[in-house]
Amino acid sequence: MEKFYLTTAIDYVNGVPHIGHAYEKIVSDIIVRHFKQRCEDVYFLTGTDEHGIKIQKTAAEKGITPKQMCDEHAAKFKEAWTALNVDYGQFIRTTDEAHKKTVQKIFKKLLEQGDIYKHSYTGLYCSGCEGFLNPKDLTEDGFCPVHLKKPEEVSEENYFFRLTKYKDAIAKHIKENPSFIVPAFRATEVLNQLENIEDISVSRAKANVSWGIDVLGDSEQVIYVWIDALSNYITALGYDTENPSEKFKKYWSVSRHVIGKDILKFHSIYWSGILLALGLPLPHQLFVHGFININQAKMSKSTGNVISPVDILKTWELEIPDAFRYYMATAAALGRDGNYSDEDFKEKVNADLANNMGNLLNRTLSMLVKYFDGEIKPEFKTDCELFETAKETIEKVKKHFDNYEIQEAGNEIISLVNLTNKYVADNAPWTLAKEEKLTECGQVLANVLEIMCVVSVLIYPYCPNIAREMARQLKFDINIKLDDLTINNIRSGKLIEKDEIKPVFLRLDSEFAIKGEK
Ligand code: MSP
Repeated sequence: MEKFYLTTAIDYVNGVPHIGHAYEKIVSDIIVRHFKQRCEDVYFLTGTDEHGIKIQKTAAEKGITPKQMCDEHAAKFKEAWTALNVDYGQFIRTTDEAHKKTVQKIFKKLLEQGDIYKHSYTGLYCSGCEGFLNPKDLTEDGFCPVHLKKPEEVSEENYFFRLTKYKDAIAKHIKENPSFIVPAFRATEVLNQLENIEDISVSRAKANVSWGIDVLGDSEQVIYVWIDALSNYITALGYDTENPSEKFKKYWSVSRHVIGKDILKFHSIYWSGILLALGLPLPHQLFVHGFININQAKMSKSTGNVISPVDILKTWELEIPDAFRYYMATAAALGRDGNYSDEDFKEKVNADLANNMGNLLNRTLSMLVKYFDGEIKPEFKTDCELFETAKETIEKVKKHFDNYEIQEAGNEIISLVNLTNKYVADNAPWTLAKEEKLTECGQVLANVLEIMCVVSVLIYPYCPNIAREMARQLKFDINIKLDDLTINNIRSGKLIEKDEIKPVFLRLDSEFAIKGEK
């Protein structure tokens, strides 16, 4: 695999980032960082979705213009991603001029070729979904099943996209490409939804929604959010209806969209239809994640349990986001819902990062200083069974990442750490030292340090700061590609001085704040 293009959903800016938005961006960043360890060329896109009635209404309530609110909130999203070390290559805003121009051209092309037509319509509009709902999909009480709000009856003349024309082609693509939608159980859900699909509204009357991209040649209509929002994945690459850019040609065929389960229909059905109408290939893959709940409850403004990821860092006085990233990444199994609770967060990162991983390195380096003045003697270089396990772990981690199983990959890494702790306990280097079996003692320590080099590379996508600090103490270049990673990274000679040894992660209840480079 040489190239890799990953996108996240673009977040609505009618509010500030919450832990659910953060979950998706962290998971995406971890996947991207892992694939940077394997591929030559990785591109990572995120951004904000800034048009539509929700944003228009919220801005009006605040007494500011939609653009002012978008600017303020988009800045908050960027700040949060910086604080969480989400290292995107591009941040697109749907209010960017270049994006708006291309969306207008896409709309015009589809209109001219007859895939978009004008039609009077009465439908049930949910502003939470920014979409018309099919009466069949409502709850018994007539509520939107996702937002649990009564949709509004809207009668308008709108432009419609001829989605039904592409229904069979979309179903065929999903059936013929079992890995198009991950996890696979979601594909079944989409095939069921396809059965009842109708043509979709892709514009709104300006009289009702003014905050949107103008339809060229029709001053009464604005392009309705989904055609605008979904196109970001290609407008960001400089796609143009007449002349697709080099960047588009380079990355589109390797595109992967990371999205939440609530927007699967839009990505698998609407977006596929639009792409087919444009004569473009469908994205390579959709990875559909679950939702993060708070203390087992659905997060919602009305419950008042919405948490900001930046507040979590502040509460725990975390100067580096690694612990939170690690927790988020391991909070949910592939595609399933996960949970955040303060108690669980503290327990999990204290156990895995401080007690098991951090202490192991710290104790081993301290013994190396105590018994050998920090020196690895040539006769310490040896082999142990654990090396085979470490090699297997590298392969298992890669395989998990190929399937977006980042919780499972994280568990493999921690399980290698736990086996290494067991190796130390079983071989008791402190006893070997006492018995003056110094070569054996040194061998145990050197073996552990070898494994820690591997651990630092594997944990890097989750905890970049901690991993870099581990590698610094191990005098090891962490920027190694995964394919070149061997179990022979510790060089003979002086490795470390006593005062260079620092805990890589302090327990969350320790009295010290966690310090580190950003
Ligand atoms: N703007 C649309 C997406 C357009 S993509 C072309 C949107 N925005 S959103 O702000 O509501 O959601 C952004 C992403 O965050 C979505 O993938 C959504 O599923 C995800 N999440 C929102 N709440 C979430 C949780 N509680 N947990 C995990 N992710 C959730 O939808």
